[in-house]
Amino acid sequence: MLGVFDSGFGGLTILRKFQELLPQYDYMFLGDNARAPYGSRSFETVYAYTLQAVRRLFDLGCPLVILACNTASAKALRTIQQHDLPLINPDNRVLGIIRPTAEVINTFTRTNHVGILGTQGTINSQSYILEIQKLYPSISVFQQPCPMLAALVEAGEISNPGTDYFVKKYFDNLMAQSPDIDVVVLGCTHYPLLIDSFHRAADGTSVSFVQQDEIVARSLADYLARHPEMESRLSKGGRTIYYTTDTPEGFDKTAEVFLGRRVKSERVEL
Ligand code: DGL
Repeated sequence: MLGVFDSGFGGLTILRKFQELLPQYDYMFLGDNARAPYGSRSFETVYAYTLQAVRRLFDLGCPLVILACNTASAKALRTIQQHDLPLINPDNRVLGIIRPTAEVINTFTRTNHVGILGTQGTINSQSYILEIQKLYPSISVFQQPCPMLAALVEAGEISNPGTDYFVKKYFDNLMAQSPDIDVVVLGCTHYPLLIDSFHRAADGTSVSFVQQDEIVARSLADYLARHPEMESRLSKGGRTIYYTTDTPEGFDKTAEVFLGRRVKSERVEL
C-alpha cells in the first residue's frame, strides 16, 4: 500500500488526486487529527510526531510514504530521510510535497516573482525559498504565514465573511511585499478548500493560484515510473484505508468535506 500522511485532513486533497490519477494502487491514509494542527508547533515536535506516523505506516505495510503536509515536509522530511530511514529500513522511502512544487514553479510565473502562503512552521523553515532558489536562482520568493487558515478549515468555516477577512488580510500582506507577484502557491494542503475565498481576495489582480494536488500526483506517477523496484512493491486493488488518531466519527464527518464522499475510518494510536 502507498502511505499518505497529514497532520489532519488537508492531505485528503492530495490523496483525492492520487486516487483520481493513479486509481490502480491501494492507499493508506493516516491523519494525526488528535494532535493537529502542526503549523505552530516546534521543529522537534513536528519531527517526532511525523516520525511516529511514518513508522506506523511502514509497520502497517507501506514501503512508500508521502508526507501530504507542507509543515511535515518542511520540518521533518530531511531528517527522516537522512537520519531515520537508513536505520528503520533503507529500502523504504518517504517523499514530501515541497520539492515537487518547487520543481515546476517556473512554468507558472512570467514575472519570476512567486508568493508562498503556508503555516507559520512552513514559512519559518524557509523551505520553499531554499528549494526554489536552488533550482531557479532568478526567481524571487515572497512569503506570508497564515496562522488562522488551517484551523478555520478544520472547523468547517470554509465559506463565510470571517474566513474571507483573514484570507484577504494574508493575501494583501503578501502582495504588499511585491506588486510583481503573479503566482501564489497555496503551500498548505488545507488551503485548496478556500480557493473561492482566495479568488475573491485576488479579484481585480492578475494573480493565479497554484494548488499542489495535481503537481504532487504527477510527480508521484513520474517517481513510480522511474523506480520500478518500488512500484512493484505497491499493492494494486484500488482500495483506501483511512486511519485517524482521533475519533473515527469526527474524522468521517469532516473528511466528507475534503473528499466529497463518505468514508469509514478506523482509529490508530501512535
Ligand atoms: N496541512 C498542513 C500543511 O500542508 C498544515 C496543517 C497544520 O497546521 O497541521 O502544512
